[in-house]
Amino acid sequence: MNRIGETINKKRTELGLTQAQLAGILNVSFQSVSKWENNAAYPDIEKLPELAAALRTTVDVLLGYRGAAADYDGRYASEEYYWGLRPNRLCFEIMRLLPPIRPYRVLDVGCGEGKDAVFLAKCGYDVTAFDISEAGIEKAKRLADHNRVRVDLRRADAMDFPFDRDYDVIFSSGVLHFIRPAYREELCARMKSHTAPEGFNVLNVFVQKPFIVRAPDSTRDESLRAPWRSGELFGYYHDWLFHTCREEVFDCMSGGTPHKHCMDSLIAQKLPEGKVI
Ligand SMILES: C[S@@+](CC[C@H](N)C(=O)[O-])C[C@H]1O[C@@H](n2cnc3c(N)ncnc32)[C@H](O)[C@@H]1O
Repeated sequence: MNRIGETINKKRTELGLTQAQLAGILNVSFQSVSKWENNAAYPDIEKLPELAAALRTTVDVLLGYRGAAADYDGRYASEEYYWGLRPNRLCFEIMRLLPPIRPYRVLDVGCGEGKDAVFLAKCGYDVTAFDISEAGIEKAKRLADHNRVRVDLRRADAMDFPFDRDYDVIFSSGVLHFIRPAYREELCARMKSHTAPEGFNVLNVFVQKPFIVRAPDSTRDESLRAPWRSGELFGYYHDWLFHTCREEVFDCMSGGTPHKHCMDSLIAQKLPEGKVI
């Protein structure tokens, strides 16, 4: 795991800031920044939120918090594909709404072992995909190689992913309940702003319902996951055109024990400003 110094150095360099520029933003000496990056001293705790904001990341990431990664590294350790290889049905909805007549750019947020990213690449999309689990990304790379397709696969945290381009489709399935409630609106706003005009966000989230018990294979650390409020996702996209907006309860066999989930799914389209339909 990276120590805080390496993380500060990496983020600062990615943003093209010098040590002196970062020091100026934070009102500290550039020697302080140099010491932090060499792990010779640590930033004051009170400075961390400001430092995280300047580096466009979160305090969690600075402190090396790996969220769900350890849990999923374990699940993805075997040769078998934990989630199977059948593409999510939302992939077919993407194909219906935006047939791959040219290599539209797709981003798969929390791609797991890559079944959907590889399927979409096979269909002709230009796919970038990332996951917080190293083991998931390694397996996704093997799956892409096996299928002889190119997928830009990266290990990254959704809260920290450098959106370096705009995408025609941003897709995420079964992931966003790992994003802490306080960060969700901000993440949706980032995905929205990095969607090309007329592009789509295709998302689903697990939703809390009082009559559904917790899945037996749900992550052991309760603090990592927080189901969304029913309808919360739809609210963040109130200003986009909805193609699909549904809530459903379904049966699941993951982990080998039958159980139920409730899920909100949304396919929303960004219409250029001023466009009237
Ligand atoms: C239920 S699995 C879904 C995987 C994949 N989307 C699929 O449908 O097969 C949840 C995935 O979210 C990933 N994940 C959890 N928190 C994440 C985060 N903050 N950033 C990126 N990926 C994350 C986990 O590592 C895991 O692979």
